[in-house]
Amino acid sequence: MTITALWCRHINDNIIGFDEKIPWYVPSDLKKFKKVTLGQTLIVGRKTYESFPNRTLPNRKMIVISRDNSYELSDNDNHFLVSDLNKIKEFTDDLYLAGGESIYKIFMQNPELAPDFILDSVYEGELEAPQAGQNIIDISECIKIMQEQYVRDEFFIDVDNVKTFLWYKKDSGLKNSSKYAELLQKLEG
Ligand SMILES: NC(=O)c1ccc[n+]([C@@H]2O[C@H](COP(=O)([O-])OP(=O)(O)OC[C@H]3O[C@@H](n4cnc5c(N)ncnc54)[C@H](OP(=O)(O)O)[C@@H]3O)[C@@H](O)[C@H]2O)c1
Repeated sequence: MTITALWCRHINDNIIGFDEKIPWYVPSDLKKFKKVTLGQTLIVGRKTYESFPNRTLPNRKMIVISRDNSYELSDNDNHFLVSDLNKIKEFTDDLYLAGGESIYKIFMQNPELAPDFILDSVYEGELEAPQAGQNIIDISECIKIMQEQYVRDEFFIDVDNVKTFLWYKKDSGLKNSSKYAELLQKLEG
């Protein structure tokens, strides 16, 4: 089992959301997210889960993280509720960590759960204007850990103001793994 984190953050301030929403719209980036995750199993926090239309994404399984053991999922065949994060290690599928901020932070800070790979997309365009009182959510703490503990591949793709880099854990040998090759191929293809 491998864990790959994916996010799209705004350049310099590392913002990923205003309240429950991503404050930009780049269809090609959503297409890339779909291409990488189709047929795969995502890990999402309960709030991010609720931000998906009808709380689902077609052709993807989802592990939904919530402290509420009785939380009702929208699809009991393909979605799994997890309250105790130690249970994540019991999954045998490759997993894709898809946010939000609290979930990225928990995984990045825990050596047992830290992603093997990070698809780090950096958006260089303008943000939508925040509404008064909106919570501005950033992942600067995760980026600091990434810069200290991961290595960035030289290859990157640059489309529609979004640059995407692949990072892997330092001294892990993961650069020679089949999963690494698979992720690069998905980015390039
Ligand atoms: N730009 C991007 O790439 C990207 C990607 C994904 C999300 N986002 C943005 O991220 C923001 C959402 O992030 P968020 O941090 O507010 O919400 P979140 O991480 O999606 O969900 C938070 C919820 O996860 C559950 N949770 C958190 N820690 C837990 C733990 N230790 N054990 C069990 N359950 C736990 C809790 O659910 P309960 O309250 O049910 O207990 C908590 O309310 C939104 O703005 C969204 O648009 C951006």
